[in-house]
Amino acid sequence: MSTVFLNGEFLPADEARIPVNDRGFLFGDGIYEVTPAYRGNLFRFPQHMTRMDRGLGMMRLDYDRSGLEAMHERLLAENGLEDEPTSYIYVQITRGVAPRSHAFPKEPVPPTVYAFANRFQRPTDERWSEGFSAITVPDRRWARVDIKTIALLPNCLAQQAAVDAGVEDAVFVKDGVALEGSHNNLFSVHDGVLVTHPASHEILHGITRGFVIELARGLGIDVEERATPVEEFMRADEVFFTGTTVEVRPTVRVDGQPVGDGRVGPVTRAIHEAFVEATDRVAGATPVSAD
Ligand code: PDD
Repeated sequence: MSTVFLNGEFLPADEARIPVNDRGFLFGDGIYEVTPAYRGNLFRFPQHMTRMDRGLGMMRLDYDRSGLEAMHERLLAENGLEDEPTSYIYVQITRGVAPRSHAFPKEPVPPTVYAFANRFQRPTDERWSEGFSAITVPDRRWARVDIKTIALLPNCLAQQAAVDAGVEDAVFVKDGVALEGSHNNLFSVHDGVLVTHPASHEILHGITRGFVIELARGLGIDVEERATPVEEFMRADEVFFTGTTVEVRPTVRVDGQPVGDGRVGPVTRAIHEAFVEATDRVAGATPVSAD
C-alpha cells in the first residue's frame, strides 16, 4: 500500500478521503505538477515550483508552498523510492471544499493538497532505439494550456485516440500548426535545426522541454522556437517528445507515415545521450539506465 499526502498528513492511499464538494472534483478547479526524481534526487524542482506559482497566480489562489519540497522528499522516503532509478511526485492543489457555486467561496476555505509518488519506467535501449509512433488529433483544449490545470478531458480523449490507434502518442494540431503532445512537448528536426513551438499560451511550458533546449544548445545544435505548420512537420527528418515521465521519446511514424527514413535520427540520439548523462549525474554514482 502506497503512502500519500493529503492536507498535511501522510497516510495509506486507501485511507485518504476527499469530500464530494471539493471544487477539484466538481469543477476541475485546481492545478497540478509532476516532478521527476532520479535515485531519490528531485530534478529541476525550483523550475517545477516556479511553474506552479504561475498556475496558482492565474487561478487566484493564495497558498504557501514553502513546505512542498520537504513533503516531496518525505513521500519518496515513505514509499521506498530513495534508491529507485526513476520516479516522480504528483501534487495537486484545488480551491478546496465548498457547496457548488461557480464563483469562489465567499468565506475563504483551505485549499485541498494531495500528492503521491510512484516509479516510472525508462524503456530499455533496445526498445528506445526502435522508436515510437504517434497520430495527429485536433486540439480542442481551452485557450490557456500553459496553465497546468487538472481539467484534462481533451488530453484524455486525445491519448485514448492514440491508444485506440495502437500508437503511443497524440500530437495536437490547431489552426494547421503541430503544437505538442497530449502529455508531453514536441520537437522536430529540419535540416539539422531543432524546432519546437514557442512557450506561448498554446503549449505547456514543459520543464523537460526547457532542459532539452539547453542541452541542444550546449551540443551546438541550432534551436528555433517557432510554429511548425503540420505539412512541414510531416516532412521532418526527426521527431521526438519530451516530458517528465517520457524523458526524450523518439517518434518514427506519424499517422502511419515514416518520419524521415523511419529510424531514430542522430539529433534525437545525441540529445537523448546528453539527457541520460545529466540524469545519471543527478542520480549520483549509479547510472539509472534500465539495461
Ligand atoms: N505532463 N505538455 C503537456 C500537455 C503536459 O501535460 C506535459 C506534462 C508536458 C511536459 O511537461 P514536463 O516536461 O514539465 O513534464 C507538456 C505530465 C507529466 C502529466 O500530465 O503527467
